[in-house]
Amino acid sequence: MNEVIQAIADFISRETGLAPEELHRWVEVPRDSQWGDYAFPCFLLAKTLRRPPQNLAREVAMKFKPVGLLSDCTAAGAYVNFRIQREAWAEVVLKRIFFKDTSYGQSSEGEGKRVLIEFSSPNIAKPFHVGHLRSTIMGNALCQIFERRGYQVLRLNHLGDWGKQFGEVITAFKRWGNLDQLETQPLKHLLEVYSRFHHESEDDEALHEEARAWFKKLEEGNSEARALWGRFRAISVEEFKRLYSLLGITFDSYEGESFYQDRLPALIDRMRGAGLLEESQGAWIVPLETYQMPPALILKKDEATLYLTRDIAAAEYRFQKWNFAKMIYVVGVPQKLHFQQLFKVLDLMGYEWSKRLVHVDFGHVLGMSTRRGEVVFLQDVVDEAVQRAERVIEERGEDKEARIGKIAAEERKNIARAVGLGAIIFNDLRTKRTKDVEFDWERILGFEGATGPYCQNAHVRCCGIMRKYPGEVTVTVDYGVLACDEEFDLIKRLGELPEVLRRAAEEYEPSLIAVYMLELAMTFNGFLARHRVLGEEKRATQARVLLTQGVKRVLAICLRILGIEALERM
Ligand code: ARG
Repeated sequence: MNEVIQAIADFISRETGLAPEELHRWVEVPRDSQWGDYAFPCFLLAKTLRRPPQNLAREVAMKFKPVGLLSDCTAAGAYVNFRIQREAWAEVVLKRIFFKDTSYGQSSEGEGKRVLIEFSSPNIAKPFHVGHLRSTIMGNALCQIFERRGYQVLRLNHLGDWGKQFGEVITAFKRWGNLDQLETQPLKHLLEVYSRFHHESEDDEALHEEARAWFKKLEEGNSEARALWGRFRAISVEEFKRLYSLLGITFDSYEGESFYQDRLPALIDRMRGAGLLEESQGAWIVPLETYQMPPALILKKDEATLYLTRDIAAAEYRFQKWNFAKMIYVVGVPQKLHFQQLFKVLDLMGYEWSKRLVHVDFGHVLGMSTRRGEVVFLQDVVDEAVQRAERVIEERGEDKEARIGKIAAEERKNIARAVGLGAIIFNDLRTKRTKDVEFDWERILGFEGATGPYCQNAHVRCCGIMRKYPGEVTVTVDYGVLACDEEFDLIKRLGELPEVLRRAAEEYEPSLIAVYMLELAMTFNGFLARHRVLGEEKRATQARVLLTQGVKRVLAICLRILGIEALERM
């Protein structure tokens, strides 16, 4: 919470006798700034104090006298509207950004607490689809957000590296596979042979038979089966890592479903012993109808264990190993029920920590396809993004040097890659996560719309101004210069970052950062359309340079949180 909100809460608290901690959450920013900089709605207060909200608002406002950061206060209906003492707030905010630099907006809320964030989690031999990509992008942003809140974050990749399909993959590979291709393009090759299996097994029962036999061998530890599986897994992980590194992402653990295999018999015994399991048509389930859910299937008739069972083992293991304050699963909306069942079963097993588990679900990505269809080969998407971005930059780039080719070809490639990826990332994160997103190349790469490149471009504009400023940036400026509407709009936004970060962590909602960053970029562009930073009289230029530096730093912080490169030129 920033000092202005604190001051408002303190003031209301003095007038009403309620604790400031209960009040500050209600402070909001009015839709239209003509009402004020902040508003305090009296509705809830009215309930607690059993008085009409309008009367309360009027009485509170009448008592106001300018103090510190608050300059003015008026009642409008049920709202008490406040104005900030502009000069003073400009000084607080800009000095803070100046001295804290990249750590501006950090908090120590999470100090000494560990958060596990599980994301991406693709399946070996199955397609890495747009949902995995969105999970990867969103998970990474959440990691950054929680780190900024002071938590120790562990990044987990729960690879889909076990299950019946591995019998199929082995069968397919033994028939049609090719070691060379496996080495050079593992994901594509495995997917190819696996798809062929599906095709040919439609009317070939023998193939299914063979696959079942191979999976049995794999589970029993047959050395050939294990060796093949191990090979598939290792080279797929290598390729995943290459893709992640393009996005600047690393994981602390790749322990996937297979890792928990050995723990399952004991787990099932324990669950049986605790009387949690019930037999149903030869299978073993945890009945959940009391909780309005279908039963959780723990062990199938053929004794095969399941995705859910492995998730139970994984949660137990992770808690023992890491004793987390929170564990977050970043997985699409279609698995909502799966996680509800998982959390409920863990609760029934008596684990108090099941309350620390969170499913951060997200909507579909519509319309992203490459030549190969729904399946995303991240490399293809990146290649396409780079090509398209190169064209866009040539036509539209802010930086003339980049446009007319004074920048070395290699740097241009890097810029194009950062712009292309930035476009994809921003598009995935700009909408509230549970909503579906549309993917449209033309739109996401536009420099004018609500896009990643638009935000990167605003950062580039700041960099350009700062490069051209010959003097030294200092905080001993005349803050009065920054008290005009347009400047102060920027100051206000800059001052909100800590609050936005808090909410983004609380709601697991990276879109709050994306939207905040976009609005900051738009406000800054609006400012530049009407005012000059450089070449004004010294007093104005000095103050605006400090402001520009603040905007640049905050844009860079937001871009980095989202996983987008803060370019200096484009
Ligand atoms: N591999 C799964 C899939 O692609 C996602 C795993 C999600 N995480 C989990 N703990 N179940 O659908």
